[in-house]
Amino acid sequence: MHAKVVVVGSLNMDLVARAERLPRGGETLAGDSFFTVPGGKGANQAVAVARLGGSVAMIGNVGDDAYGQQLRQALHVEGIDCQAVSVCDGVSSGVALIVVDAASQNAIVIIPGGNGLLTPESVERFDALLQAADIVICQLEVPLPTVAWTLARARELGKTVILNPAPATGPLPAEWFAHIDYLAPNESEAEALTGLPVTDKASAERAAERLLALGAGKVIVTLGAQGALFVTAQGSQHFPAPQVKALDTTAAGDTFIGGFAAALSRGMGEGEAIAFGQRAAALSVTRAGAQPSIPYLAEVQP
Ligand code: RIB
Repeated sequence: MHAKVVVVGSLNMDLVARAERLPRGGETLAGDSFFTVPGGKGANQAVAVARLGGSVAMIGNVGDDAYGQQLRQALHVEGIDCQAVSVCDGVSSGVALIVVDAASQNAIVIIPGGNGLLTPESVERFDALLQAADIVICQLEVPLPTVAWTLARARELGKTVILNPAPATGPLPAEWFAHIDYLAPNESEAEALTGLPVTDKASAERAAERLLALGAGKVIVTLGAQGALFVTAQGSQHFPAPQVKALDTTAAGDTFIGGFAAALSRGMGEGEAIAFGQRAAALSVTRAGAQPSIPYLAEVQP
């Protein structure tokens, strides 16, 4: 079976501490609990596609350590094609140090490890996977030249291209936009990409229109509990979020992206796919951790 969705991106082991609040600079704070779970934006999105009914392959790197074996195994048990998850000698696997507070907000520091060695050449080795895909998904936790190469190659092959610009630190290179069918930032990423403040639907629409003017095909701004805004050349549509009691928002965005892509790959229309991704993401925030929080198809079906 050929993968219909290919995710090119990061795999991290998440080291998660829960505490009443996030520590201030220079402060030592006693926390409540600690756990270690597989994460990484790329791997989370691949797991979301797999659990939510899609067929998916992952292209990425891990280090030659115990975390690397666990990260690969976590994808393998989900039925994800891992032939292109390579082990890099002499380097650690990607790690994310995450603190989650009582209000379910998080702060994350990532150490790229093997993710930082994912070169354009190392993706090109698996060009057959890109050729066999219908949808290609990228994020920004691997080197930017690799993202640039992948977007351009996926466009050249005529694939549907989704970019989740996370984490975003500033504007995207101008030449990327023409390669992107769906650009899906959250509010802070939309702000980083455009320099415009994004706090609500109206400001999200202004930022999305700027991104469309730069050449993105369609823009989906996710706004957490305020829902999502889908903006195209034809206009904008707001999708309210299902209201839930949030425990941990880690990987909610990844679950949305994976759910959206899985739904598209199964033939749903864009609006239906956005609503499906939102239902999946809403369930994920009620559970702790990255990959353990991602729901399965049967939980999300209406
Ligand atoms: O999007 C959530 C992810 O961000 C975590 O799993 C962590 O690994 C960081 O990459």
